[in-house]
Amino acid sequence: MTTFENFHAFRIHQDEHGHHAGIETMALEALSPGEVVIRVKWSSVNYKDALAGMGRGKILRRYPLVGGIDLAGTVLTSSAARFQPGDPVLCTGSGLSETRDGGYSELARVPAASLIPLPKGLDLREAMILGTAGFTAGLALLRMQDNGQTPAHGPIAVTGASGGVGMLAISIFSQAGYEVHAISGKTDRADFLRELGAHTVLPRDTLTTAPHALGSARFGGALDNVGGATLATLLASTQPYGNVAVCGMVGGIQVSTTVMPFIIRGVSLLGIASSGTPRLQRERVWDHLATDWKPVQLNHIATRDIGMEQLIATFPVLLSGASFGRTLVHITD
Ligand SMILES: NC(=O)c1ccc[n+]([C@@H]2O[C@H](COP(=O)([O-])OP(=O)(O)OC[C@H]3O[C@@H](n4cnc5c(N)ncnc54)[C@H](OP(=O)(O)O)[C@@H]3O)[C@@H](O)[C@H]2O)c1
Repeated sequence: MTTFENFHAFRIHQDEHGHHAGIETMALEALSPGEVVIRVKWSSVNYKDALAGMGRGKILRRYPLVGGIDLAGTVLTSSAARFQPGDPVLCTGSGLSETRDGGYSELARVPAASLIPLPKGLDLREAMILGTAGFTAGLALLRMQDNGQTPAHGPIAVTGASGGVGMLAISIFSQAGYEVHAISGKTDRADFLRELGAHTVLPRDTLTTAPHALGSARFGGALDNVGGATLATLLASTQPYGNVAVCGMVGGIQVSTTVMPFIIRGVSLLGIASSGTPRLQRERVWDHLATDWKPVQLNHIATRDIGMEQLIATFPVLLSGASFGRTLVHITD
């Protein structure tokens, strides 16, 4: 039974035994401080969770911490006036599983400033199908549009298209009226990506040849999950005054490019850092995700539900690039 003195959490350590992680019994006072205690119902598995869970990529800034960068659940207790017991809430990023205990836990304790009331139009499970992945895709669209992107610029390339961010981006951008060109290593899944809203599905190697300083401007803009040569090629292939939003690095962290896309075509490179997004922008994104940008095929994008005990086996699948869609973590009923 879950009590404040006795609940289960997936905790990550780095100590004299090296990296190790697993399910432990915890008490509330061991969790990072915060005004709101939440009974967590759902979380999700993101690439960053896999890095953290496997002890790769220097994600955690202190140890030990509960893993999980996303959570959705109901408020149990709150010393902040904005939240009352029973309120459904969500939290993505905001230091979860980075500087403070995260969402892979039957109970979580979070500062009120980091919590978003569950928007009307989403249930708790849907909020976690979106999670950091959907929030990141939505934030990219918001920032691109704030910087002048419109469907008239031309098609939007989405790389890493069969991953969590990629699938949700296909759906969100197409809901918002853009023609989406999905770039994927899994062309056998092209039909599914088209069902999500992709107009065209192109193989991953379309964008990995060494780019010229400027190529034919085939895209109006892009959301890039990959980095490296893919990002350089996207920059060289974007229409005048289009935006390339970069959020990921599954293909590498180095980028070799020239100034030409920027000074000849006025292309903008927008950095997407979802974890530290200011609250006003966070609320704008979630309002859209619950209404006009809400993916119509949300339940199809959740390809797997697991329990906390399956996390360890799930992480290597994400890091190998073999994952497909979103994996949800069912924490409590
Ligand atoms: N900046 C932020 O705030 C933020 C937020 C969320 C995620 N991210 C980053 O965004 C990226 C995607 O995250 P995710 O959670 O969607 O991960 P994911 O579900 O594991 O998806 C990653 C996808 O990238 C593609 N891929 C994998 N390895 C690749 C490689 N070596 N070269 C090219 N493509 C490869 C695969 O898609 P295909 O087979 O279809 O090509 C894979 O499904 C990660 O780098 C993650 O850290 C950043």
